[in-house]
Amino acid sequence: MSRRFWWWSCVFGVGVATAAEPPKRPEVVASVTSPDKVLRVEVGLDEGRASYTIKRFGETLIAPSRLGFLLRGAEKLERNLVLAAQSGSSHDETWEQPWGESRLVRNHYNELRVTLTETLKAKRSFEVIFRVFDDGVGFRYVFPEQPQLREVIIDDELTEFHVAPEATAWWIPAGEWNRYEYLYNRTPLTEVGQAHTPMTIRTRDGVHIAFHEAALIDYAAMWLRRVEGQRFKAQLSPASEGWKVRRAAPFSTPWRTLRIADSAAALYASNLELNLNEPNRLGDVSWFRPAKYVGVWWELHLERSSWARGAKHGATTANTRRYIDFAAEHGFRGVLVEGWNHGWDGNWFGDGNDFDFTRATEDFDLPALAAYAKSRGVHLVGHHETGGAVSHYERQLGAALDLYAKHGVDVIKTGYVADAGQIERFDRQGGPALREWHDGQWQSRHHLRVVTEAAKRHIAINPHEPIKDTGLRRTYPNWVSREGARGMEYAAWGNPQNPPEHEVNLVFTRMLAGPMDYTPGIVSLQGRTHPIPSTLAKQLALYVVIYSPIQMVADLPEHYAEHTDAFQFIQDVAVDWAETRVLNGEIGDYVTIARKDRNSETWFLGSLSDEHGRVLQVPLSFLTPGKTYRAEIYRDGDDAHYRDHRFAFATEQRDVQSSDMLILRIAPGGGQAIRFVAR
Ligand code: NOJ
Ligand code: CA
Repeated sequence: MSRRFWWWSCVFGVGVATAAEPPKRPEVVASVTSPDKVLRVEVGLDEGRASYTIKRFGETLIAPSRLGFLLRGAEKLERNLVLAAQSGSSHDETWEQPWGESRLVRNHYNELRVTLTETLKAKRSFEVIFRVFDDGVGFRYVFPEQPQLREVIIDDELTEFHVAPEATAWWIPAGEWNRYEYLYNRTPLTEVGQAHTPMTIRTRDGVHIAFHEAALIDYAAMWLRRVEGQRFKAQLSPASEGWKVRRAAPFSTPWRTLRIADSAAALYASNLELNLNEPNRLGDVSWFRPAKYVGVWWELHLERSSWARGAKHGATTANTRRYIDFAAEHGFRGVLVEGWNHGWDGNWFGDGNDFDFTRATEDFDLPALAAYAKSRGVHLVGHHETGGAVSHYERQLGAALDLYAKHGVDVIKTGYVADAGQIERFDRQGGPALREWHDGQWQSRHHLRVVTEAAKRHIAINPHEPIKDTGLRRTYPNWVSREGARGMEYAAWGNPQNPPEHEVNLVFTRMLAGPMDYTPGIVSLQGRTHPIPSTLAKQLALYVVIYSPIQMVADLPEHYAEHTDAFQFIQDVAVDWAETRVLNGEIGDYVTIARKDRNSETWFLGSLSDEHGRVLQVPLSFLTPGKTYRAEIYRDGDDAHYRDHRFAFATEQRDVQSSDMLILRIAPGGGQAIRFVAR
């Protein structure tokens, strides 16, 4: 910086970065506390600039942090503001999920709504709504209708998050080529660059905070960019037009969310983002059935068969019948088939323009297979890989969904395999291609278009290479699962594979966002290139720990035949839950979760460790007092180890009651799964 510029910037406060200087000592103009007075949010103004502060038991967690926008063709919407109005309200209701980790969700918060208006010239206004729960805070901007701000083109959102206490962060990079499929970094918060949300931190004093967002609708996803020290700024995912978001007022932004709790377990237990989403808009969705599914999938990733046509083609009629039989024999509802349609020959990565979503390959008889599946009480699970050619897919969307609906396909896995920033968009047929990000405003619209079109036909959607989950399953309960992190496929060909700590990182980061189609259950513990760094018992525990209402039974039928003891748990485990309890856990170290089946008195428990062995004491107080349960225990064998004794495994049974304490001995890279059947 030149001396002259330095002098000017000191005197007039101009900076090179778009992020403003941190507020000094704002005057508090409005405040709100959570129902049990755990959290408090204060809205401040300093020389006309607005900020918010979050305190927990009086201690500042989020120091004064800026609010505002850079708008295209208009003055920055951040200065010369006054508090024009404020109002408060309280809310306490319990609502029911059609499916989920728990049947009932309590939504209990106090709300503060402030209107900030410019004193100069345009006198534009915006509102900020804060909802303060005992376990977190959500806030969103509202752009009301006003003649001087009809069309809002957002070049930059200026929201900041200035973490006060020193903290450690678990995060993956944002704005990089591979969307969300990174291993988690654990670093001091001061070493984060630009992160996706959820980003989870633990302060020096043990307070856990997860930054995320809720109700990402018709807006760009928020990344977190570190400005300096522990000060972060909202960085909106880009759009091909150069701005980040374009909307007509009135509209609201997504909620910016902070789950705040004493422990990692309590962080997971929070329903903050679901509560901030709108209630179910689809009405009765009992047509969606939480279920397990098998499929022509792992064999593709092992390269035993191919998506492409030819001698190795996996999606043949005969092979699919084999999976249908396997599903029917073992009570699995779904059979996924990838590579069933035209377009897979050649290089489809990042170019899906050859995909035809209504034309099956010559060796795949869709009508006959759908009829055969039906006769055996099984449903085909559809697959729409776009290769990132999203406009091409949208042109076929209606016909593609109709075809599947006609054949009883009621869940579709979609896919967006293309580098980040490489989603192909054509506004006009034959016009120039634009390139979009997987989580920009354009893709946020696309995903909802697919979900709502599918809902009309009673089809559920499970996107891979998706936009992140922000709790929209509450509003659109047919958006049932998604990928959006490194899944099991990395065990087949990843370099590196997912290390033992990966899933215990996921639970307290990615899984805070919502269900993940992780595709567990690889009992053969062997990828294409390397052994899988997991014990056998861990593969079972994943069904309880990594939540999804559709869970893949991902390994090959012949591999399950070699592990019938472990396979029993996979057949028995439920997928839809009345209640969930996180019994213990530390980010990246270990976790134990118990969930009660929604359709019976049966409880399930899953426990995972990282690369270290652990002894975990688990009180069974979640069981109904006075009842005796048969605990069917699937555990690591005495010498189990993810490196060299992966298959060391034991099963045992014993009677237990709620007053009992179980001692779980988890091997390095291991796990434990238990089914508690009421006697
Ligand atoms: C990536 C998905 O994650 C994987 O499950 C799928 O098999 C391939 N894309 C092909 O669509
Ligand atoms: Ca993927």
